[in-house]
Order: sequence, then C-alpha cells, then structure tokens
Amino acid sequence: MVNEKELAGLSYDDAPKIVTKKIPGPKSQKYLEKSFTYESMARGAGRFPLVFKEGKGTTIKDADGNVYLDITAGVAVNSVGRCHPRVIEAMKSQMDTLMHASDLSNVRRTELAEKVASVMPGNLKNNCVSYFSQGGSGAVETAIKFVRKITGRTQIAAFHGAYHGVWCGGNSLTTGDQYRKGYGPFIPGVIHLPYPYCYRCCFGLKYPSCKMQCAHYVDYVLNTPYTGADDVGALIIEAQQGEGGYVPPPPEYFTIVKKACEKHGALYISDEVQAGAGRTGKMWCIEHTDVDPDMITWGKGMGGDVPMAGLTIRSDLAAKIEDQSQPNTFAGNAMTCAGSMANIDILTENDQALIKRAATLGELIKKQIKKGAKDIPIIGDVRGLGLMIGIEFVEDRESRKPLSGEKVGKMVMGMLNKGMIMVPCGRFGNVFRFMPSLTLTKNHATKAVEILLETASEL
Ligand SMILES: Cc1ncc(COP(=O)(O)O)c(C=O)c1O
Repeated sequence: MVNEKELAGLSYDDAPKIVTKKIPGPKSQKYLEKSFTYESMARGAGRFPLVFKEGKGTTIKDADGNVYLDITAGVAVNSVGRCHPRVIEAMKSQMDTLMHASDLSNVRRTELAEKVASVMPGNLKNNCVSYFSQGGSGAVETAIKFVRKITGRTQIAAFHGAYHGVWCGGNSLTTGDQYRKGYGPFIPGVIHLPYPYCYRCCFGLKYPSCKMQCAHYVDYVLNTPYTGADDVGALIIEAQQGEGGYVPPPPEYFTIVKKACEKHGALYISDEVQAGAGRTGKMWCIEHTDVDPDMITWGKGMGGDVPMAGLTIRSDLAAKIEDQSQPNTFAGNAMTCAGSMANIDILTENDQALIKRAATLGELIKKQIKKGAKDIPIIGDVRGLGLMIGIEFVEDRESRKPLSGEKVGKMVMGMLNKGMIMVPCGRFGNVFRFMPSLTLTKNHATKAVEILLETASEL
C-alpha cells in the first residue's frame, strides 16, 4: 500500500497557486528573452512560456513563485517525482566518493546493470546485458548498430507515428514532418508500417471486426520478396505509442507481429523509453501482452531526475557484438547510476506497489475524464494504460477532425493560467497527455482532471 499522506509530503500540497497577474510573470519573461537569444529553439519545448526554478514531487515553482501541478513529469521522466529525498541522498553520498569513471567498470555501474537485469520482463530477466547511454536516442542508435551486426541484415521496420529519437539513425525510424523535412537523407533500409491506431484506422476498419488486418499486414510485408524481407534485421515498436498520440493497440496485435518476426528471422525491439518504468501499471508496457522481446530500449523514467538510459539485449545476442565497438564517454557515471538505482528501488519496492497504484489511479482518472467528457463535444477519445492517458481533442465527434492548432494552444495556455502544465502530442498535435509522476496524489489527480475539463468547456 502506498500512503497518500506520505506522497502529499513529497510535493507542494497547496498547488496550484498563481501569484502573478499574468503568465509568464516579469522575472520569467526576462529569462525567456535571454533563453530565446542564447539557446537553440530546435529544443523540444520550443517557446513554451515557463521558466522552472524549483521542482518538488509532482509540482513546480517558476521564477516568479507561481506553483503548478505538473502533469507532464518532464515528459514521462520523473517517475517518482522531482527531487525525491531518497534520490538526492543517494546522489549526494555518491558525489563524495566517485562521479566520472569514463567507460570503465565502476561499482555503481555494475550494480545498476545487475538491477536492470533483475527488473527485465520474460526471457530477458537476469539473462541480458545492458549498454548505458544518457538518453533514449543513444539507446536506439545503439540498437540499430547491434541489430545489423547480430543479424547480418540491413533493414529495420518501424511504424507511422513512431518516435525513436532524433539522431541520424533514430531519426530515420522516427516519423513526423518537423523532425524530418529538410534534414534528410536519413539512413537507408527503413520500412515504415501503419501503427494500430484504432481511433483513426488507416484501413477504415473497426476493432474487433477488423480481425487485426494491420497485424497481418506486418506479416505480409516481412514475407514478401518485394520488400527484401530476408534482409529485415529487426522491428522496433512502442507497446503504447507515445509521441505518436498515446495510442494503446489491442494486445493481440503484438502476438501476431511477434510471430511474424520469429517466422522471418527479425528481432523484436520494444522501445520502452516513454512507456516503460512502471508508467502503464506494469514495469514494462510489453508486459500487457504475451510477447517476449529480444531487446528493450529504455530511458526517461528509469533515471528520473538523472540522465540515464540504455539498451538491454539477451545474453546470447550480446555474444555477437565485438568488444569496444560502441564506446560512450559519460556512460555509467557513478552519480547518475546511484540516482537511477534509488529511483528504480522506489518504483519496484514492496512488490511494485507504486506501479500497481499507477494502474488503479490511471483507471480512476480515465473514469473521471470520460464522465466529464460526455458534455464536452471536442473530446473525441480517452484512452491509455495506467498513467499514460491520452485525451484526443477534435473539432466534433462526428468528423473526428483534429482540433485546430490554435485551439490546442488556447487549451495549453488556459491550463497554464490555472496553474497546470499539460502538453499535447500526436500526429496532429491534438492529443493531451496525462503522464504525471507515479507519486501524484489522488487529490492532485482530481484537481488536474477538474482543470482539464473546465478549460475544455471554456473552449
Ligand atoms: C519511445 C521513445 N524512444 C526514444 C526517445 C528518445 O529519447 P531521448 O529524448 O531521451 O533521447 C523518446 C523520447 O521521447 C521516446 O519517447
């Protein structure tokens, strides 16, 4: 059991609290002007008008002292909340002894590798090796390289709506015009398949009468000589698509696709960078299915406040990778390893109590949103597993036309003015994502739903 009172103590309990006349306030405005002058606006947040000063659990204080409810968890990163006292303690004590150790073995790094192995699903559990990086992009980039070496094949299958990072290899797998247009050419040999997005099925079918045509299509593509099928080394897929719009496919989709991979000799990579680390109510999102992946890319919520990500692969596959073929100067920094271990401990202790709570709290939140959405015609769909909930906004339910960018912007600012940070994603940028830290209290969850529904009603 997770104690609500203890969770409340980890955040500013009186959030949200807006003290300036407008947002951004005067101090924030000054920082933003400097930021827009000296920082590249290619960054993810672009010109979002908020300047963080303090983070506490599921709440944030800006440079002017406004306190917000944070329903983003730093884009699914702060799984146990910001500045968790145990994470701070672990890092502080590590700072006194060792931080950088280059790519050599260090005590904390080896302990983390062992811990990661112990929390892996299925056949990977305690039967794997991990490669560490500072972000999910590094993990995906490494996966591409390893797949080619292991299988001797050159092609990789990915999915429409996928986000696997923006380095050259990962960017080739990632879809989304803003990441691609004018930046190519990318690596050759990438096949993009339709992701099972039932609300907007590209085959115009309805689940379950569709009989999972999209999954059988994957089998067809891997099997046809016209795609050079015997050259597909791996398929990389998110078990619930993140940036693509918080889309959870029917679980049997993955069973069919995994069988296709096995039949045609392609490895199965589950990209768990966003959906992993307990977010969906299980440690790994793929655990909602019966699929045993060959590799997992992970990041975000595994490190929480520290930059820690990795690629974990089955031990027999690892034997095919040459020693010293993928160095990384900052991998396995002892301080970030210590922080990440404390983070994973908090997530998984007491029989994964916090993760199990994410499943029940997520159901409660979805129920509350669905109930309120009945009277709000611009809410088209509410979906997702655990605390990875997507709320798809439309111009009207009949046409399902995505809500315009202008109105989405008004939603974002409307919520921010009420003291809540929630950001959109999706192919059309019209899906708001409820992705808080797993330590969000029930009180704050209810408050967040109220703000979301109130702002949507005002639109
Ligand atoms: C599924 C997935 N893979 C990979 C990445 C890239 O991770 P990073 O931004 O840490 O490099 C992301 C980031 O959002 C992601 O959601």
